[in-house]
Amino acid sequence: MQVLHRIADLRAALAQGPRPAFVPTMGNLHEGHLALARQAKASGRPVVASIFVNRLQFGPNEDFDRYPRTFEADCALLQAEGCDFVFAPDEAELYPEPQAYKVQPPPELADILEGHFRPGFFTGVCTVVLKLFNIVQPEAAYFGKKDYQQQLVIKSMVRQLALPVRIVAGETCRAGDGLALSSRNGYLSPAERAEAVELHRLLDNIARVVRDGRTDVAHLEQEAMATLQRRGWQPDYVAIRRQADLLEPHGLDEPMVVLAAAKLGKTRLIDNVEI
Ligand code: PAF
Repeated sequence: MQVLHRIADLRAALAQGPRPAFVPTMGNLHEGHLALARQAKASGRPVVASIFVNRLQFGPNEDFDRYPRTFEADCALLQAEGCDFVFAPDEAELYPEPQAYKVQPPPELADILEGHFRPGFFTGVCTVVLKLFNIVQPEAAYFGKKDYQQQLVIKSMVRQLALPVRIVAGETCRAGDGLALSSRNGYLSPAERAEAVELHRLLDNIARVVRDGRTDVAHLEQEAMATLQRRGWQPDYVAIRRQADLLEPHGLDEPMVVLAAAKLGKTRLIDNVEI
């Protein structure tokens, strides 16, 4: 496995081979990332993983500075998965001048849910992902469904800008008790870690009752928000939406997903369950 820090070196290394399979990450890798790397490897193409904590997608009061950086361990994990190239630029390499050109995703998809509570988040994500796509020129790129809205926003960017890359969405990986794996789980105290699984239990329960025919979507959402508050969480949203575009469902006969974001102590967790 080659570890490359410069755009020119990565381009040179990839120049002769087939277009790669690409797994963009911010590092602090867990089984969710590694499952994506395995999917990428199964494509038979050379695998590129990027590790870059993208300042553009963090708000001023978010955790950019304390976001866990575990580069050596990440490289060891990627090597064990048969990854061929790690691309790990520093900020001066990826943003040598202030990034004035940015991708502005459509508000109806990007300013709701996560985008409502994290203004500018999807602009930051789309901008870095487009830039990484231009550098890596992958045939396919792999994103986890844990960040459900993110993979939809990226699919829509690829469609609208006719980018020649196939987006593959990988299933959410969970701990034994059901908690969605996330780099931010490491912030949780033991007591918070024990409580954190309730978010998934709540979503699973909503998905089950909707599948069983409950139609009072707004009531279910409010009830879930109240439950989280009672248990000491600060919920941002619990929302039952259409899988295709995250708009509110008209009938309940279309594929849906229930999504939530909530803070437990200082840690903001997100999760979702497809219905
Ligand atoms: O999901 C992430 O880790 C990041 O948002 C991504 C896609 C690597 C862009 O920085």
